[in-house]
Amino acid sequence: MKGDTVLVTGGTGYIGSHTTVELIEAGFKVIIADNLSNSKEGVLDDIEKITGVRPAFYREDCTDRKNFGKIFKENGIDAVIHFAASKAVGESVREPLKYYGNNLLSLMNLIGLMMENGVGNIVFSSSCTVYGQPKVLPATEESPRLEATSPYGNTKRICEDILRDSITAYGNFRGIALRYFNPIGAHPSALIGELPNGVPNNLVPYITQTAIGKLECLSIFGDDYDTPDGSCIRDYIDVVDLSKAHVAALNRMLDGKSEKPYEVYNIGTGRGVSTLEIVKAFEKVNGLKLNYKITGRRKGDIEAIWGDPSKANRELGWKASRPLSETLRSAWAWEKHLASLEK
Ligand code: UFG
Repeated sequence: MKGDTVLVTGGTGYIGSHTTVELIEAGFKVIIADNLSNSKEGVLDDIEKITGVRPAFYREDCTDRKNFGKIFKENGIDAVIHFAASKAVGESVREPLKYYGNNLLSLMNLIGLMMENGVGNIVFSSSCTVYGQPKVLPATEESPRLEATSPYGNTKRICEDILRDSITAYGNFRGIALRYFNPIGAHPSALIGELPNGVPNNLVPYITQTAIGKLECLSIFGDDYDTPDGSCIRDYIDVVDLSKAHVAALNRMLDGKSEKPYEVYNIGTGRGVSTLEIVKAFEKVNGLKLNYKITGRRKGDIEAIWGDPSKANRELGWKASRPLSETLRSAWAWEKHLASLEK
């Protein structure tokens, strides 16, 4: 609640920076910890421009328990939101130990430090990847978690278990895992957004970089799936809406409203949109033509997934509200902002 102090790990990253803005605007004090492996310190300036408040910042790595522990010693922390993790699916297949090492150890250290310092509330970034290809759509929180298709996906599943088991074992400890569907878009100010490292893997940054001319042509990975237009279907969630879900989850725990010590919520729109629909909507709302071609399927892609967010709607009092058109406009505004900085 207002005035509480939240430690945001990975707070200069894509979802972390947007969530920091929403937390500050809701009256929380934010401390960011980030090792800057996939983000830039300059994001702090942009957060300050948007909110008028500069969050405290520690350049620390959650896997370094000793140094990370200083953050807890030096601050009175009420809750933690844990974003910091490695997240590239392809890289995780090539370097599984990096992913198991980073993602599992970070969470385990964090839980240990929270216990030592009497901090009893955590929101964990999980993913709809834990559902794999669900047999029944939309996926609900009760849908079975399937065998992960990548080491990255497996770390999300194992981290959920580490959190659940720790909460069961230790008293005075609550946690909420948010299973994100596909986060896209940028802040309406266009001052913060997604900053992919190298050539993007994800659809929307690939689209915007193609539109601006950094990349030549978008490949649509397959139009022969068993879907209405043959391309894959996802539940694209606006990053600002997603960020607000974190504030709602924190408030639920801090206001003592959690019904169980460990809770899980789908964070999505409840609507499936195809890759081709995203491309067409992007062209329409931004008044441009995108250079794209249909190519073969991408190995490991899920054909179709979207989630049922009604549990989050009901229990968190949260609902995705930004229309897809606005989200896609914000993604393009962000890409243009980046281009203007490079001039
Ligand atoms: N796509 C293309 N061309 C591209 C990039 C993507 O056609 O250049 C298509 C994909 O085939 C897929 C859709 O756009 O159908 C979305 O792809 P993304 O890579 O943006 O997202 P994914 O759903 O594949 O992966 C995301 C996250 C993962 C997470 C997964 C959970 O990036 O971290 O959701 O399902 F594990």
